Amino acid sequence: MSKEEVYEYEVGPQGSQGLDLLDLAFNQSTIAFTQKYIKPGMTVLDVGCGTGVMSRWFATQVGPEGKVIAIDNSEDQLLAAKKITEGLKNIDYQCLSAYDIFDLHLTFDLIYCRFVLHHLHSPRKTIRLFYDTLNSGGIYIGEEGIISAAFAYPSSFAWTGYMPTLPSPHTEQDGENRDGDFGMKLFYYAKQAGFDILDCQLVQPLLWKRAQKILVVQGLKEFKKTALAQGMTEQEWQNKHDETLRLIQDDDQIIAFYQSCQVAAKK
Ligand SMILES: C[S@@+](CC[C@H](N)C(=O)[O-])C[C@H]1O[C@@H](n2cnc3c(N)ncnc32)[C@H](O)[C@@H]1O
Repeated sequence: MSKEEVYEYEVGPQGSQGLDLLDLAFNQSTIAFTQKYIKPGMTVLDVGCGTGVMSRWFATQVGPEGKVIAIDNSEDQLLAAKKITEGLKNIDYQCLSAYDIFDLHLTFDLIYCRFVLHHLHSPRKTIRLFYDTLNSGGIYIGEEGIISAAFAYPSSFAWTGYMPTLPSPHTEQDGENRDGDFGMKLFYYAKQAGFDILDCQLVQPLLWKRAQKILVVQGLKEFKKTALAQGMTEQEWQNKHDETLRLIQDDDQIIAFYQSCQVAAKK
């Protein structure tokens, strides 16, 4: 029997600081990468929108003639997203899984999906759904992590060690686990789905200021429930927490976030 697919981090207010870390680390490069494809009047689907920071940016780019449909399968995330986009009339939110986008009965000019496929058991199927729900000439902007590329120097078990051991299936099929290194496969499976690749690049943010590094502690807290469920003891978690605090206070120690592979592709 296949394992149930569960999102491993806290959602809603308890999970928002982990997403703050993603926003801080990646939004600048996401915007630079995406800007040339987004045009006023477009209909955009933001898949797994989280707390909605990028949905808000898309809404400002497509303008009043355009529309953003932002979906997430967590009501709590959507509540947070709705809060920050209050007053914007061109965003619709739906609590929906990435696997169910046909239920929207819509087609899109651009589909944006960041750091969601590497949480799913069936990322390849999801890319094919994106292809099928895009208009002809429509754009898919995907960004997925290569979690095994994260490091600290000098190294620290609190950073590289805090990543769970993620299976990275090398098969062509979807699996029964998430694939934390799916980012390295994004180009290949976008092509397999029928897309023409327009651009592709790798990004790896460095956290070196105290204000950046402090968000890592929050990320650790948001992963606690999953870590304990995966077999970590309370004492082991506490050791990691204490070592993380030490790591963020050492101004000589740098943290390299995981890599993100960005792909822009056209139907
Ligand atoms: C790491 S967060 C990324 C959020 C946002 N895309 C960003 O880059 O800031 C992953 C998000 O995907 C959502 N998610 C997980 N599984 C999902 C699924 N099957 N369908 C839709 N959303 C999902 C989670 O609730 C979470 O908000």
